[in-house]
Amino acid sequence: DAALVDAGEKVFRKCKSCHQIGAGAKNRSGPQLNGVMGRQMAAVEDFKYSNVFNTAGEEGRVWDEDSMAAFLANPKEYMNGTKMGFAGLKSDEDIEAVIAYLRAATE
Ligand code: HEM
Repeated sequence: DAALVDAGEKVFRKCKSCHQIGAGAKNRSGPQLNGVMGRQMAAVEDFKYSNVFNTAGEEGRVWDEDSMAAFLANPKEYMNGTKMGFAGLKSDEDIEAVIAYLRAATE
């Protein structure tokens, strides 16, 4: 709902130094995140992912609610070898909210 998406937009401030989403989003140090939910991992053209991410994509792994929640809670534990330099989100509420925002902000 709208309140969850609003909360997720605030959580996404923690991601903005590396990620863009929405109209005109471009790759920065991290890939642009339009359409990421429901998509195969490591699928953004022209973004140079780490080997572990490329392998996950080749294996056909997908970003669903469970995989995204696990990744955002502890990126390096979920995806050992990732170059995403982010410690993770501590609260399940923040994770749920930012996932709602990723869906809603997609162009
Ligand atoms: C990758 C989300 C914070 C840098 C990713 C991916 C997602 C994501 C979903 C995989 C995209 C794909 O498969 O196409 C988020 C969210 C964040 C966040 C929601 C905040 C809660 C950050 C921060 C940085 C960062 C702060 C930089 C310090 C990266 C990089 C990758 C990545 C470099 C590529 C990882 C690799 O190839 O190993 N992020 N991210 N992210 N993110 Fe983040």
